[in-house]
Amino acid sequence: MAVTTQQLLQWKQQGRSIVALTAWDYAIAQILDATGVDLILVGDSMAAVLGYETTLPITLEEMLLHAKAVRRGVKQALVVVDLPFLTYQESLQQAMHSAGRVLKETGAQAVKLEGGYPAMVETITRLVQAGIPVMGHVGLTPQSVHQLGLRQQGKTEEAAERILQEAIALEQAGVFAIVLEHIPANLAMQITQKLAIPTIGIGAGNYCDGQVLVTADVLGLTQKQPPFAKVYTNLRETISKAVQDYAAEVRERKFP
Ligand code: KIV
Ligand code: NA
Repeated sequence: MAVTTQQLLQWKQQGRSIVALTAWDYAIAQILDATGVDLILVGDSMAAVLGYETTLPITLEEMLLHAKAVRRGVKQALVVVDLPFLTYQESLQQAMHSAGRVLKETGAQAVKLEGGYPAMVETITRLVQAGIPVMGHVGLTPQSVHQLGLRQQGKTEEAAERILQEAIALEQAGVFAIVLEHIPANLAMQITQKLAIPTIGIGAGNYCDGQVLVTADVLGLTQKQPPFAKVYTNLRETISKAVQDYAAEVRERKFP
């Protein structure tokens, strides 16, 4: 049975941890889906595999292209697509248009928007009312890198309280789940206990209802990973070795 947003809520209630990873193309999506990943995020973090320094340059067209490829590779997982920087902050109309294109053109089930400030909560409320499932994202929001850097957020009591209130406001706006990025574990725990909807943590400790990582980090494809990432295998090395072997065989006329 394909994963739904309601299923995620049930899993929280049952205490079954949600497994989420990012994907950027068909092959990766197929592997993750066949392995039983619950939620596949077409994150704008794919900026890294497109050679961008930050997530800011990614366009909606690029997200749509990759989201379509990912969606074609997925049978079970819930597919969520990031709306890129300045394709939803300008106005409700812009957000509706961008989210609508994602759902209509890619077949993904949901979108993710960064931020829990009042104007964003208002936008998300209206998207949800229009029938668009939305995942929230608070704490470190990489689209604000030029304001926040990539530092942990919510370290002072005041900042922690603000993030908690943002999470509560997003739940009231109707998000089906919320990403908590790079915040102290005890703050993530507090939010997770307070909210009925599932929290998906990244660099937010053990207590969240699920975890997400950037697949390019997990596979060792990125040259630099954030401190909270875990590199489970080094595909850069594996690929480099295969290419060296191939090159040697071609040069020695051993292949084909
Ligand atoms: O773009 C991304 O990969 C994300 C996750 C880190 C949640 O937004
Ligand atoms: Na993102």
